[in-house]
Amino acid sequence: MRNPVVARRLAISHACCRLHRINTTRSYAGLIHSNSHDAPHADRGPSIVVDKQGSAVHINGQIYSLDSWSNVTPGILAKTTRKLHLHPSHPISIIRSHIENHFATFKPLNNYHPVVTTRQNFDDLYIPVDHPSRNISDNYYINQTTMLRAHTSAHQLQGLRSGASKFLISGDVYRRDEIDASHYPVFHQMEGFQYFDMSVPSITADQVNADIAIQTPTIANKIHTFDDTVINVRNPIQSSHPIEAAMPVIAHLKHSLNSMVRMLFHDEPDLQVKWVDAYFPFTSPSWEMEVLYQGKWLELCGCGVVHQGIMNAAGENLLSAISIQDYKIGWAFGFGLERLAMVLFDIPDIRLFWSQDPRFLDQFAGGKIFKFQPFSKYPPCIKDMSFWLGEEWNENNFCSVVREVAGDIVEDVKKIDDFVHSKTNKRSMCYRIVYRSMDRNVTNEEINNIQEVVRNQVQEKLGVELR
Ligand code: PHE
Repeated sequence: MRNPVVARRLAISHACCRLHRINTTRSYAGLIHSNSHDAPHADRGPSIVVDKQGSAVHINGQIYSLDSWSNVTPGILAKTTRKLHLHPSHPISIIRSHIENHFATFKPLNNYHPVVTTRQNFDDLYIPVDHPSRNISDNYYINQTTMLRAHTSAHQLQGLRSGASKFLISGDVYRRDEIDASHYPVFHQMEGFQYFDMSVPSITADQVNADIAIQTPTIANKIHTFDDTVINVRNPIQSSHPIEAAMPVIAHLKHSLNSMVRMLFHDEPDLQVKWVDAYFPFTSPSWEMEVLYQGKWLELCGCGVVHQGIMNAAGENLLSAISIQDYKIGWAFGFGLERLAMVLFDIPDIRLFWSQDPRFLDQFAGGKIFKFQPFSKYPPCIKDMSFWLGEEWNENNFCSVVREVAGDIVEDVKKIDDFVHSKTNKRSMCYRIVYRSMDRNVTNEEINNIQEVVRNQVQEKLGVELR
């Protein structure tokens, strides 16, 4: 559940979360040679080099020093060179280009590098310093002030400073997470952004209404929207926005997204769309849009009216584009491309997007959205491991270790037992790891070897006692 996770993570108010850290410099040096099982295909790019002492990393011609925050791994860094969203006949890129065609007047910005500052990813977006979405256990940090972006919103200011009043950003984003068929530490997002000059709201409102009217015939009668959200103190219009200026912007945002999903789900005769209140630190009011698909409500997209501070910050550096600061009011949306692609193409496992198996890739050569023909699955190999916990425990750290050792051969990691010993008070956990390759048979011997490395690394890095 990609977008809900995001929304939830960014929405949780200041829950008190401890930072859990893997001893990262060590894991960095230790893992660089050990992940020969990672992605059987050539998945690492030439532009990433860790220096001999393991104290700095070179990415895309830049040198970043490592520190106690560094938890990015070579396997993850290698993904930054893949750029699936730009391969013309890859499902991720096909969805991107459908959306770009739909928003034909928007400037596409698809080449921002995924290494960003924490300022871009968080501070510029008003995400408080103690917000749980900054946790080291949820993100890939290069060092304390540099990270792999966790969302494309990290480039909103750059988009604004590009001078465009409407733009789309797509790119790979990185989050540490659980392991199963719909979670992968790298996925892709698309961000939409548009702002209006509201210095004379009535003129712009007329323009907005005209814009809506042009698109309406294409979606009328074919979409049922349920929207009982009302502006309220918990999801307010910003104090700097006159209501007569904010309302047309809101109408335009909702209309733009309704018509986008109508285009994407063109097969669904009676498309049902629901709008629900949400919270993001960088928009207000904020919503989530859900679509009823094959009997289930699918959370698709987060959006809202852009925090005026972001508009003003862009204006400070680019007075000509955004001159009368408070009068430029914008909307933004963001959603995960994998989640959409899995639904629209019927792709059952998120790892398939990274596959270089022609049985997968060749199906998409036509650049159209259609149902994927699954090819037979290879048998799984299932291994359990139990251990006593040390002082700290964080499941994402565990998953990172498994992922780094096993690469794309790991399909699922689930806790199957958790108890506290009545005498020693020690806590025990048992995890079931499902190994399965997408494109070949794995042998029990091979998986035993991987499992052995996993066990050793988990013991060494997470301070657990194997049972
Ligand atoms: N960046 C948000 C996320 O990853 C989505 C979003 C984008 C929400 C733009 C509002 C506006 O969840």
